[in-house]
Amino acid sequence: MKDPITSAGTVLLTGAAGHLGSAITRTLVGRAVNVAVNDVDAMAARRLVDSVDGAVPFIADVSQPDQAERLVTDVIERLGPIDVLVNGAGVEGPVGAVEDIRPDDVRRAFEVNVMSMFWVCRTIVGGMKRRGRGRIINVASGAGLAGGALASPYHASKHAVVGLTRSLARELGPHQIAVNAVCPGYVESPMVDRILDAETALTGGRADVVAAIPMARMARADEVAATVAFLALDAPSYVTGQCVVIDGGLRA
Ligand SMILES: NC(=O)c1ccc[n+]([C@@H]2O[C@H](COP(=O)([O-])OP(=O)(O)OC[C@H]3O[C@@H](n4cnc5c(N)ncnc54)[C@H](O)[C@@H]3O)[C@@H](O)[C@H]2O)c1
Repeated sequence: MKDPITSAGTVLLTGAAGHLGSAITRTLVGRAVNVAVNDVDAMAARRLVDSVDGAVPFIADVSQPDQAERLVTDVIERLGPIDVLVNGAGVEGPVGAVEDIRPDDVRRAFEVNVMSMFWVCRTIVGGMKRRGRGRIINVASGAGLAGGALASPYHASKHAVVGLTRSLARELGPHQIAVNAVCPGYVESPMVDRILDAETALTGGRADVVAAIPMARMARADEVAATVAFLALDAPSYVTGQCVVIDGGLRA
């Protein structure tokens, strides 16, 4: 018998209009009955749904608890029960020495990268519990598994995502809800460019990050998307509480 999740009804993806979110959306559309794409950037979300058949846009700032709650309610009202949640919204946060970091920038990094996951999860799990099924995939990062100089808010926030993932896997396991994280290393993306540019401006020299990667290249967004799709639809539901690293061997 097939794992029932392979016929997922509605998938909700936050931060869907970004570089990785768009790739994940393209991979999931056609494999779920409905793909609800959330982003705070209405124009980017519009561009995404115009280019992908079957994705339905939901504009909300998931770092705000009331907006996250309304998002989940709206998706369920329009598209039906949510089987899969992909928490993808994220920001790189401030780059700099810890003594130079502004409190508001640290707060923002945690609000978007961590708190948003609490706000969406707390609203979504009731329905998943009632149906005795569900999958949650949190987009963490290799930054959630090791420290990073000059980017402590990002690394600390992604460590929190890993902790949240493991905790929710324990809490929701009895309800047959699987909770996992993906931990991409460097992805060829505007976000990595922004981080490396900011670090270069501080240190005066651009780090050759690819030199440390055994596969000698960064990840492509579609490779991360395939990993998310595996956890969302293909993996046995018994896989839970895991942080799947996709980094070309960087942390092997
Ligand atoms: N790019 C990488 O190399 C890399 C590596 C590891 C992990 N990640 C993580 O993957 C995720 C996506 O990264 P990306 O490279 O696609 O970045 P991106 O900046 O291209 O996309 C992020 C998206 O999230 C949206 N967003 C931001 N705040 C939001 C909010 N409050 N509510 C709703 N949407 C919001 C943005 O509008 C944007 O569309 C992030 O969590 C990031 O930390 C990225």
